[in-house]
Amino acid sequence: MLKNKKINIGVFDSGLGGLTVLKHFLKELPQYNYYYLGDTARLPYGGHSKEVIYRYAKEAVDFLFDQGCQLIVLACNTASAQALRRLQQDYLPNKYPDRRILGVIISLAEKASTHKKVGVIGTRATISSNVYEQEIKKLNSKSKIYQNSAPLLVPLIEEGMAGKDVTNKILKKYLSPLKKENVDTLILGCTHYPFLLNDVRRIMGKNCDVSDPGLIVAYSLNAYLDRHPEFKCSDKKLGERHFFLTDRPENFILLGEKFLGEKINNWQIVSL
Ligand code: DGL
Repeated sequence: MLKNKKINIGVFDSGLGGLTVLKHFLKELPQYNYYYLGDTARLPYGGHSKEVIYRYAKEAVDFLFDQGCQLIVLACNTASAQALRRLQQDYLPNKYPDRRILGVIISLAEKASTHKKVGVIGTRATISSNVYEQEIKKLNSKSKIYQNSAPLLVPLIEEGMAGKDVTNKILKKYLSPLKKENVDTLILGCTHYPFLLNDVRRIMGKNCDVSDPGLIVAYSLNAYLDRHPEFKCSDKKLGERHFFLTDRPENFILLGEKFLGEKINNWQIVSL
């Protein structure tokens, strides 16, 4: 391995949500350079068709590869559910054979698959893809999966309404069918939802395990990097952080800095 080799990791989300994953990457793997792209101009993705989500995700991936990323994590569950496989199988081998795109769904499904009754909330596109049920069943055919889409949560979170009464009321409504089934774990199948982690845990009660998905994804990335030394960063110095947004930065910066607990200085508006 080269001495002092830096690796650039792209993190993609439709907006602010990917910060719930990036936060754990920064903590677990601070030496990497991170290129975060939030497609704030076209958010939310969750109500779009498969074709449109694929096109948006492909443009995002192209942009991040153009920045020099060797590895991209589609933090966005919606893009992971609707576009990842096609990008990995049809697109990457021809265009970028030496680079990789990873998703988040398998890691979260693996963690949940030891449970008997698994609840999943996500965007309409993620839930209708049924990808969580398929992945969990591959690992544990006895698990029962209960799913609900929660389309209003992403706009509320992007508007800074996490923790407000109105958001908690809506959250409770989305969680109620899963709580009624007594699910013993709940997958937060959208990067935005960890902004509501404490409220979800309180509503679901102590018999339901609600993990922080960003943490699980960060552990998986760490394990992936151990298995793939070609993407391993040998330089121990703190990496660079770059943020790219496709539209108005105000909410992203305000809420993002609060959530990350650090300044977001290095940002720019880009078009894909
Ligand atoms: N945050 C994304 C996800 O993880 C999608 C939110 C949206 O744009 O609808 O699914």
